Amino acid sequence: MICNIAITDKIIIAGETGTGKTTLAQYYLSLFPRHIIYDPMAEYEDAGFTNVYVPDTDDPEEYENFLANVWQLGNIMTLIDEAETVMPEKKNLVPHAYKIIMKGRHVDKSGQGGLVGMIAVTKRIAELKKTVVSQAKAIMLFRHFLPTDIDYLKSFVGDKANDLKSMQDHHFLLYSRGETTGPHKVVIPKNFGYANKQKLNTNNNNINNNYESVDSL
Ligand SMILES: Nc1ncnc2c1ncn2[C@@H]1O[C@H](COP(=O)(O)OP(=O)(O)O)[C@@H](O)[C@H]1O
Ligand SMILES: [Mg+2]
Repeated sequence: MICNIAITDKIIIAGETGTGKTTLAQYYLSLFPRHIIYDPMAEYEDAGFTNVYVPDTDDPEEYENFLANVWQLGNIMTLIDEAETVMPEKKNLVPHAYKIIMKGRHVDKSGQGGLVGMIAVTKRIAELKKTVVSQAKAIMLFRHFLPTDIDYLKSFVGDKANDLKSMQDHHFLLYSRGETTGPHKVVIPKNFGYANKQKLNTNNNNINNNYESVDSL
């Protein structure tokens, strides 16, 4: 599969539990040494990632504080797992989630911060804030079974949403720029993860690979 991701892009990875979302998210994140992870399930440190924030609460204020710090750091890819819990369709986005999603392609007006991307991982895409979905450059769809999610996805991928019910583990449809391709199989390279062992140096804005491409998984 072919998917180029820049550090300011917004990506969604959706599907039921156990289908391979977090693994694919970890792979994409490994392409961005300058990254940070919002990890409610505390899954990422075990996978070798060090720039991990495990929230104590599901209080929107805690998420807002996290994202405000991320915005200040700038030039960074964020990964939000269980994204529908902190960016639910039923509520307004917290201010810095809105800022990152709508203005994350730009440097902050102050000149300090901005340029923030987001990989949002969700098992209930129909419950994820629509603003997040509509701003996504790419949506990776693993197996889904809930009728509410399938019906919601029909507005993006049409009848192919029905194929999502029987999608095998570690396979996904890719929806990007109005086109749907796949199923694509996720094959994780053996050396994946090597780049994650370094701690984020928050004083260093000078990262050399703020644009990376994935030609094949
Ligand atoms: N591409 C893959 N190839 C082989 N095993 C995989 C692959 N993706 C995920 N897995 C395994 O499947 C299980 C579930 O994956 P995970 O990424 O945690 O799913 P999810 O986040 O959707 O619940 C894990 O044990 C993981 O190691
Ligand atoms: Mg997961």
